Amino acid sequence: MLVSGQSSVGTGTALICLLSAFSALFTPAVSVKEHDFKKCDQSGFCKRNRAFADHALGSGHWQSPYNILPETKSFKDGQFHATILKTINNNGDAVKLPLTISFLESGTARVTVDEEKRQKKEIELRHDSKARKERYNEAEQWVIVGGLALDKDAKVGSEDKSQITVQYGPSSKFEAVIKFSPFTIDFKRDGSSQIKFNDKGLLNVEHWRPKIEKAEPEKEEGEKGSEEKKEEEPKGEDESTWWDETFGSNTDSKPRGPESIALDIEFVGYEHVFGIPSHAGPLSLKQTRGGEGNYQDPYRMYNADVFEYILDSPMTLYGSIPFMQAHRKDSSVAVFWLNAAETWVDITKAKESKNPLSLGINARTTTTTHWISESGLLDVFVFLGPKPHDITRKYGELTGYSAMPQEFAIGYHQCRWNYVSDDDVKDVDRKMDKFKIPYDVIWLDIEYTDDKKYFTWDSHTFPDPIGMGKQLDSHGRKLVTIIDPHIKNVDGYQVSSELKAKEHAVKNKEGNIFDGWCWPGSSNWIDAFSPAAREWWASLFKYDSFKGTMENTWIWNDMNEPSVFNGPETTMPKDNLHYGGWEHRDVHNLNGMTFHNATAHAVTSRKPGELRRPFVLTRAFFAGSQRVGAMWTGDNQAAWDHLEASIPMVLSQGIAGFPFSGADVGGFFGNPDKDLLTRWYQAGAFYPFFRGHAHIDARRREPYLAGEPYTAIITAALRLRYTLLPSWYTAFRQANVDGSPIIKPMFYTHPGEEAGLAIDDQFFVGNTGLLAKPVTEKDKLSVDIWIPDDEVYYDYFSYNTISTAKGKKVTLDAPLDKIPLLMQGGHIFARRDRPRRSSALMKWDDYTLVVTIGRDGKSAEGDLYVDDGDSFDFEKGQYIHRKFVLDAAAKTLSSTDGEGRDPKSIKEGQWMKKMREVGVDKIIIVGAPASLGANKEVTVESEGKSWSASVEYTPAAKGQAAFAVIKKVGSRIGADWKVVFA
Ligand SMILES: *[C@@H]1O[C@H](CO)[C@@H](O)[C@H](O)[C@H]1NC(C)=O
Repeated sequence: MLVSGQSSVGTGTALICLLSAFSALFTPAVSVKEHDFKKCDQSGFCKRNRAFADHALGSGHWQSPYNILPETKSFKDGQFHATILKTINNNGDAVKLPLTISFLESGTARVTVDEEKRQKKEIELRHDSKARKERYNEAEQWVIVGGLALDKDAKVGSEDKSQITVQYGPSSKFEAVIKFSPFTIDFKRDGSSQIKFNDKGLLNVEHWRPKIEKAEPEKEEGEKGSEEKKEEEPKGEDESTWWDETFGSNTDSKPRGPESIALDIEFVGYEHVFGIPSHAGPLSLKQTRGGEGNYQDPYRMYNADVFEYILDSPMTLYGSIPFMQAHRKDSSVAVFWLNAAETWVDITKAKESKNPLSLGINARTTTTTHWISESGLLDVFVFLGPKPHDITRKYGELTGYSAMPQEFAIGYHQCRWNYVSDDDVKDVDRKMDKFKIPYDVIWLDIEYTDDKKYFTWDSHTFPDPIGMGKQLDSHGRKLVTIIDPHIKNVDGYQVSSELKAKEHAVKNKEGNIFDGWCWPGSSNWIDAFSPAAREWWASLFKYDSFKGTMENTWIWNDMNEPSVFNGPETTMPKDNLHYGGWEHRDVHNLNGMTFHNATAHAVTSRKPGELRRPFVLTRAFFAGSQRVGAMWTGDNQAAWDHLEASIPMVLSQGIAGFPFSGADVGGFFGNPDKDLLTRWYQAGAFYPFFRGHAHIDARRREPYLAGEPYTAIITAALRLRYTLLPSWYTAFRQANVDGSPIIKPMFYTHPGEEAGLAIDDQFFVGNTGLLAKPVTEKDKLSVDIWIPDDEVYYDYFSYNTISTAKGKKVTLDAPLDKIPLLMQGGHIFARRDRPRRSSALMKWDDYTLVVTIGRDGKSAEGDLYVDDGDSFDFEKGQYIHRKFVLDAAAKTLSSTDGEGRDPKSIKEGQWMKKMREVGVDKIIIVGAPASLGANKEVTVESEGKSWSASVEYTPAAKGQAAFAVIKKVGSRIGADWKVVFA
């Protein structure tokens, strides 16, 4: 949720008082509010670097002033070192920039540029600043968890006075051509250029310089003063934002002066670039330098509480992942820009012809990106693919893979701002049961607290939180309560007095505890960069400390961009100071992740010996947040276009390694009509994170309130989600082991199909072959699904065979009660078909397997991953991973261990022992050839026994594929078994 100066804020009179006091003091914006957030030309370093680019690209003879000093170069053990000299004037003065290029075992290359003067702290800070002098060099410490081993086999291929070539990567197929003068790098795969650094000469490292104080009067004359300044600076460098910068009512003191870094990164022959979430726009990123259909402004990454955000915009949102993947037919490459400061990315595309005489014919498009960060090191990782999956895997090796979630967390979450009392919560819980609507978690927004003091309860409205928790627990349900990073600054509140006394709070530029405004009014912010602060934070979550919570209580971290109502762009002043003396400017985009992580660690240590996976939802995030929990796309609106926008946004999260994501179902602001609400549930059933949420002013909209036929249709969507939970969980496991997205766009699954590369409104679920295209348009009663390959597709619900060809669109009827969902032939996926109230109650239910016969009529494959859904025992082998293979020619369907483990070698813990009672109930074979249904019985062989099971065969008819149903299969899910059709 967020601040927005809403005219009515519902129940809390305290809140109304607060907001009016706040309005009187700070003139908050009234509605969105593009102008509350900077455009590039209002952000000094962005404007300067764009001007630099215009100058470089506009002059026919631009020469980048960055040159490697050849005598400084060395190459050893997979690392290239050299000094880059930046020429700064005509007197031959130059700045030394240490360069390191690391070639990693994974085949990833890393380029790091620092600045010697700042590195050695040989600079002076203005305003007696207590900030650190170095460029921020600790992003790696928070973000990178592995994959940094150097490639000892990387070798110099050739070398002369002007350049050096390093061969690296798998079978030395990768090559980096490092030119000295000017400094450029050309990354090649199999001899052809893929990614070029500084080819356009936009590398810019704003070096430290002392401020030359101008005569006082000149400054005060304003307009005139700056004109005079221009005359003094014939080169026309715009110094106006070097030393301080004002936006709205806030002035940034910038004690280190200008310090931005920028680089052009060219993707040679690549037309599409994806990633750099979160933005509300298409998956395939747009050009940003104007022109028809393009944006005017670069994509921005500066985590912010952007209320009522606008769609189709490069504006920043709540979280940032500076990872970008480029794709063309059959090839993917990527870069990861490891920098947590405010960052902008310009994107331009140009047609290039291989043959200059036939311009336009055979022309391919090259995408040039211009990355601009306010401070810190220049630190970029380069991935040369070639498959999208190679890239997500290697990116995950560095930044970590998605954490295995609490199993309940992939069920449905029922939230609103606010459930007003413990009775209200219990009532909603009972009504969900009465209407047989499954859900796992009910959520409490800020109003449950005593006066927005986190870790307390409002004793009038929530007199008995434990009683509430117990009712939920009685059918396996959970409670999530919100805990934000701002701590009410008030006497008599122990959390506040400890925060201040122990100095765990973020400081202002003077080194005093920073005070700002948020929900509670005057607040201080915990500094989660401090280990001691994190330890203290953890102590607050102990069951005997946060009273009223129990083992089924989990946490929601909101407002952690951080949102500061009276701060610049609704966040913290950049010259605030964090642990270690780093300015907020340096760590801004990391801030949300460190807080989210501190909370996740806190809830895993609530009681000694209680080792359970945390569930903590976050709004702000950065690269690496996938290791911690889930995110949602923030405060969207109850509007059809927001529903539509949610799908590319969630897909983009998956491409950038953080797939546990979803949008508020129903839309946060406003009131969805019943059609929209229904369609949103149908789409939400395919978000990895599935939560209904609503603003405090929005009308109640729990699914049972919609009335018929809506309630029944919404319930069916929820049931579909619950039925497919085993397959969703398996997809989460894949993300956990190799970084696969959970829902996958067409370019990811079919990288060779050019026509599908930009499609972002349909997707596959994990490896199930389930292809969904939710309806996101009002009154739309059909959808066109693009078919990416020659496989056979079946309608999920009717088993109708979809007859069309690769690359064609097929129109599916989609009345309100229908979710367009196809099954690609050749897969086997698992379901649990028995309707239950919560996922916990399904834990010991038998499975149904669905087999979809492929076009070849023969084989199908799939897998299933199951563990206890709660502990970390899966890390010790306590899980079931089955691989299912149908061999229609051999007339067998078998289940074996997915990793070739010998079941006897696994020492079964309690959960695995209990799973011995869980079996395969039913197998449905869609598209089954008559040979598989020829007999009324099949033989099941398992664990040294065999028995027969009955088969019911339905021949093909009127567009519906033939299908066979094997009933009461009776084998254990965890055991090897084989069904013999003969
Ligand atoms: C997460 O918290 C743990 C425990 O305090 C700490 O060791 C780790 O550095 C933190 N990581 C991030 C990304 O904040």
